[in-house]
Amino acid sequence: MKITWFLGLLLIASAVTAQSLYPHDEEIQIINGEEHVQTPFGLMLRECVHNVPSGTYIQESEDGSVFLTNNEKNFAQRIQKSEKCQKANPRIKLEQWIDNGGWYLPANTTLSKFEANYFVPNTPRTTNNQWIYYFIGSQNNDGSGPEITILQPVLSYFRGWYFQSWNCCPDGQAYNSPSIFNITPHDEVYGSVEVKDSQVTIISQNKLGEQSTLTVDRIGRNFNWIDATLETYQITNCTDYPKGRMTYSQMNVTLSDGTTALPEWYNSFGPSECLGKTVIQDPQTISIYHNVLKE
Ligand SMILES: *[C@@H]1O[C@H](CO)[C@@H](O)[C@H](O)[C@H]1NC(C)=O
Ligand SMILES: *[C@@H]1O[C@H](CO)[C@@H](O)[C@H](O)[C@H]1NC(C)=O
Ligand SMILES: *[C@@H]1O[C@H](CO)[C@@H](O)[C@H](O)[C@H]1NC(C)=O
Repeated sequence: MKITWFLGLLLIASAVTAQSLYPHDEEIQIINGEEHVQTPFGLMLRECVHNVPSGTYIQESEDGSVFLTNNEKNFAQRIQKSEKCQKANPRIKLEQWIDNGGWYLPANTTLSKFEANYFVPNTPRTTNNQWIYYFIGSQNNDGSGPEITILQPVLSYFRGWYFQSWNCCPDGQAYNSPSIFNITPHDEVYGSVEVKDSQVTIISQNKLGEQSTLTVDRIGRNFNWIDATLETYQITNCTDYPKGRMTYSQMNVTLSDGTTALPEWYNSFGPSECLGKTVIQDPQTISIYHNVLKE
């Protein structure tokens, strides 16, 4: 009894040390002599991707620098404006979005809160260093504020499942919170994007209640578009996709006027490779399938 308990602890300890909180940092790719890392916005210059503690507040200032503060973690940093990052700003790269449901909020309303449970799909049968990103997200597609940004709790697969909050890309810089692990197929994990006064908080939470969050200054951005998406990189074989379904369920949308909305999701992507399809089951449920003929 005691021995198995002790072995169990040892196993947990080794599993934790083997995992980086920022898996993209483990895979630096040199392109034209520059370090790049994989992000939900494609390959980005390493120096433009910032790993910050959970709970960090991201504040853009008028001179283009960005302040990062986290009182709880005793962390503060100023990210200088960088022309290099600005030039390489991936903005909103839709090319790698594979399956997607999107919705524009009703005129003259903006987002107050968008939350969903994510049903974690099966682990892919093969691991060919593919990156898989499932997320709900919100963007200020009306052009309000300094530029378009996206806020996302991202359920990711890279040799294992993890969950991370991302904000891309004020002034060409992307921010991400530490990965939450302890995620296994068929878990329900929780993601949300919530606007409160002048701040927007992104929560990524596993079924044990472990969270990784970011808060972003709204600075005049009206988040008027939401989506539920699958995005992938470096898929080389259909078996690199999870087989069966991933589901966003119990999606709740609260608008700035305090009312709840039932989105009329549109899918402008249609069917995708490896028998991929997005099924809008109802306003609160979207499933994404791969590698199965029947739903
Ligand atoms: C939205 O606001 C504009 C300007 O105040 C107004 O002209 C328009 O009728 C409003 N639209 C709706 C759908 O309420
Ligand atoms: C959505 O709202 C319902 C009713 O309040 C609640 O039961 C459900 O948990 C909410 N969804 C999420 C993802 O929290
Ligand atoms: C690619 O997919 C096929 C059929 O699904 C499978 O048999 C094979 O092992 C896969 N190859 C690699 C390199 O993953």
